[in-house]
Amino acid sequence: MSRYHLWGCVAAAVVLTACERTVTTVEETSQPATCFNCHSDQNTAIVAAEQQYAFSVHASGTHVSEPNDPCSGCHTSEGFIQRIETGVIPTGLENPTAIHCFTCHAPHTSGNLERRLDHPFPLANGVTFDHHDGNACTACHQARRDVDVYVKPASGRVTLTSRWGPHHGPQTDMLTGTNGYEYAGFTYEQTNHKLATEDGCLDCHMKHTENLRVGGHSFNMRFEDGAEELINVAACADCHGDMDDFDYQGVQTEIDTLVANLRSDLVTAGLVSASTGLPRAAVTSSDSAGAVWNYMMAIEDRSGGVHNRKYIRSLLVSATQYINGTLPTPAAVTTRQPDRGEGSK
Ligand code: HEC
Ligand code: HEC
Ligand code: HEC
Ligand code: HEC
Ligand code: HEC
Ligand code: HEC
Repeated sequence: MSRYHLWGCVAAAVVLTACERTVTTVEETSQPATCFNCHSDQNTAIVAAEQQYAFSVHASGTHVSEPNDPCSGCHTSEGFIQRIETGVIPTGLENPTAIHCFTCHAPHTSGNLERRLDHPFPLANGVTFDHHDGNACTACHQARRDVDVYVKPASGRVTLTSRWGPHHGPQTDMLTGTNGYEYAGFTYEQTNHKLATEDGCLDCHMKHTENLRVGGHSFNMRFEDGAEELINVAACADCHGDMDDFDYQGVQTEIDTLVANLRSDLVTAGLVSASTGLPRAAVTSSDSAGAVWNYMMAIEDRSGGVHNRKYIRSLLVSATQYINGTLPTPAAVTTRQPDRGEGSK
């Protein structure tokens, strides 16, 4: 504590004693935070975070600067900050920067390391869920489209192209268990990692390790460096016990197989290209496009089912049954998966 802080405390104590009031809360004064609270020779938290961050795809990726609307809202620091603070996605940014420390933190404004995005951020379909400190990730790692609008246009006809789908990174939708194409009459199940984890994404992706390349500010679950591969299975151990890989109870094997089977059925149906695995240019019905949507959601999620095994399985199985004509007889009403945990935990 600096000398000035000490004098402040003494002064406050004198005044309070003189008034003989019971003090229930003491508010922080708004003097500039001492630089040495964060930058000092002893406190290496920032240095550690910097060194881990060097291994993050956020720092090293090849798509970290897409300065135009709507890309800038997730692919640049400036665009992201404007998007979450004003709701406006800027275009043609003059000096766009890649995601960096001040994208998520504003230490020189707030005097602390809290996150700019500390509240639930709505998904494209309007669903919100409080992932606590993990809310920091949700505004970018979400589908760019609302399935009900994108796959169910009033015309009932959907035009597919190779770029059609939820976009890369619908992990928040998947963890939350929403925004898949849900066929009437099929029961969609959930694996409740969203309730089991305290801070959503962070419980696994930022789980502390002694290695700089996985966990922490690398955000990596897996890091491949030539012949060496690191996987952060320690992130699962507290809850599930030790495991050798993420294929816990065969989850990734199961989901990869379901994706491969659906892909082959979609190729046969003429909706997906055999060579690229991406949607083919075609005009089709909402239910057929919905099968392609579920396939793309599972691929773009990239966790091999870990984020939400039962929901991802339900989406893939129902899509496969629809394409093969074996879906149970539809019930009278289609309902969107309700957000059972909204605003609570
Ligand atoms: C709440 C913690 C915190 C406090 C207090 C703080 N800083 Fe920082 N500072 C950071 C973080 C986090 C970074 C980002 C580190 C990086 O760029 O790798 C940073 C970076 C910097 C940099 C590097 C240049 C830059 O903009 O990236 C300078 C210089 C700096 N701080 C100066 C100061 C000074 C001077 C003070 C006191 C007036 C101060 N800081 C107080 C957290 C803090
Ligand atoms: C400002 C938007 C934004 C925020 C906030 C954000 N990300 Fe990302 N993230 C991206 C983008 C964009 C990429 C891809 C960069 C590339 O490929 O060049 C990415 C890549 C990643 C990757 C690597 C994917 C791969 O290709 O291996 C992981 C893991 C990840 N993010 C996790 C997180 C976690 C966890 C959080 C929250 C702590 C988070 N991200 C917050 C935009 C964001
Ligand atoms: C809602 C946020 C969001 C918007 C808007 C967005 N992206 Fe992304 N994008 C992401 C995230 C998050 C990732 C990383 C996902 C992952 O690695 O799983 C990503 C990844 C990418 C990738 C890397 C794919 C790969 O396989 O490595 C490209 C290319 C890309 N985006 C291009 C764009 C372009 C071009 C636009 C504008 C037309 C755009 N994005 C708009 C969030 C967004
Ligand atoms: C994508 C968002 C994001 C970016 C970018 C980011 N941080 Fe963080 N940071 C977080 C989150 C989320 C936490 C809270 C971690 C927790 O609660 O476990 C955090 C926590 C911290 C802490 C507290 C101690 C710790 O490690 O948990 C420090 C120090 C820190 N960040 C420094 C940095 C520095 C330095 C950079 C740039 C090199 C940076 N952060 C970039 C999201 C981010
Ligand atoms: C229960 C633990 C867990 C939670 C919670 C979790 N993830 Fe993951 N995530 C994983 C695992 C495991 C993988 C797959 C790693 C592999 O097999 O390569 C993964 C994969 C990813 C990938 C693909 C890139 C990569 O690292 O392989 C991204 C991006 C990602 N997750 C982002 C997120 C975001 C954003 C959240 C929060 C909305 C989140 N994850 C929540 C465990 C988790
Ligand atoms: C904070 C605790 C926690 C962490 C961390 C965690 N899990 Fe889980 N996981 C659970 C709970 C609780 C369930 C059961 C949820 C339910 O019943 O819906 C579960 C369910 C699962 C399931 C689904 C089983 C099924 O058939 O539905 C898989 C697979 C799984 N976890 C894998 C992982 C992996 C891999 C990791 C590490 C990357 C991990 N989990 C990290 C708590 C956790």
